[in-house]
Amino acid sequence: MREQLHNLKNEALALIQEAKDKKELETLRIAFLGRKGKVNQLLKRLVQLEEEEKVQFGQLINEVKRAIQQTIKSKSSTIHAKGRAGTHHPSSIKDFFDPTLPGAKPSQGHLHLVTQAIEEIHRIFEKIGFVRVRYPEVDWDWYVFESLNMPKGHPARDEWETIFINQKPHPKMGKVVLTTHTSNGQVREMERVGQPPIKMINIAKCYHRQQDITHTIMFHQFEGLLIDKEISIPHLKGVFDHFAQEFYGPERKTRLRPFNFCFTEPSFEVDINCPLCLGKGCRTCKGGWHELGGAGMVHPNVLKAGGINPKEYTGFAFGWGVERTYMMKSSLKIEDLRLFYSNDLRFLKQF
Ligand code: DAH
Repeated sequence: MREQLHNLKNEALALIQEAKDKKELETLRIAFLGRKGKVNQLLKRLVQLEEEEKVQFGQLINEVKRAIQQTIKSKSSTIHAKGRAGTHHPSSIKDFFDPTLPGAKPSQGHLHLVTQAIEEIHRIFEKIGFVRVRYPEVDWDWYVFESLNMPKGHPARDEWETIFINQKPHPKMGKVVLTTHTSNGQVREMERVGQPPIKMINIAKCYHRQQDITHTIMFHQFEGLLIDKEISIPHLKGVFDHFAQEFYGPERKTRLRPFNFCFTEPSFEVDINCPLCLGKGCRTCKGGWHELGGAGMVHPNVLKAGGINPKEYTGFAFGWGVERTYMMKSSLKIEDLRLFYSNDLRFLKQF
């Protein structure tokens, strides 16, 4: 009888595990635990036993009964959960592992859009012979202002809301500043190369105090400088046209506006038509055009500061914001420059 009980339990548990739905489970419950079920049939046979055995087997039968009841209960809740979640319930994943399924790919990052822009700008200028350099982003007053024909106290310095570093000034170079523009690379490059031709593209971080829809406190500029014999305004215009064609495509236009910078003569501001309204005027551009940055023919005093004879050599220079230049691409609709540095993945993942 002990063996019979053992077999009964095994048979019941195996069949319950195999049950596919509630109906099948109920049939099994009746077959084993019902009034005329197998467990009750065994109980009936207890009368034939001695008093001592009755107690022993009674206990055993109850244990078997309890085991069957419990298995039915847990199987029933599994069937119930499967019914709600379809085949994707975690327990079904645990039960069945399919090694032929493709693995889950780890998420992969990419370069920040400013880095992408810098690489693209660099490639365009490199192809026409400009050499990429990087000059200090914390520099002496001399390179940032004074050597660029802006002596101390000159009102033109007010254009740049400069952030000064709290450090003892150099006797000749003056105070230390966070570079307000990449033009600090001009005289540094003349000193590095010495004898023209000079064809520099300096891409670095700059700092202003202003922060609004078209400005961030930290931003990037790229500064071009070309010095050689008989360089004139058509060379400057030719390089800008080439850049606009390569970077933006044929439908975009640039224009030069007369302006004033101490370090160039004559000086211009270079504009490009707005990619959002193509020149009609909208919330971002207001007048249909966006300022890319400044440009001009290098002032003789700047050439002299870099040790170059202005009677022998001439040159042009320009300095534009990387973020702003990038925002003007037709395919992009970036309405706020601050988004570049918001660290919002929903924005960054689009590039
Ligand atoms: N440094 C100027 C700025 O930050 C831009 C600029 C103007 C650069 C004229 C130049 C230049 O090289 O020739 O606004």
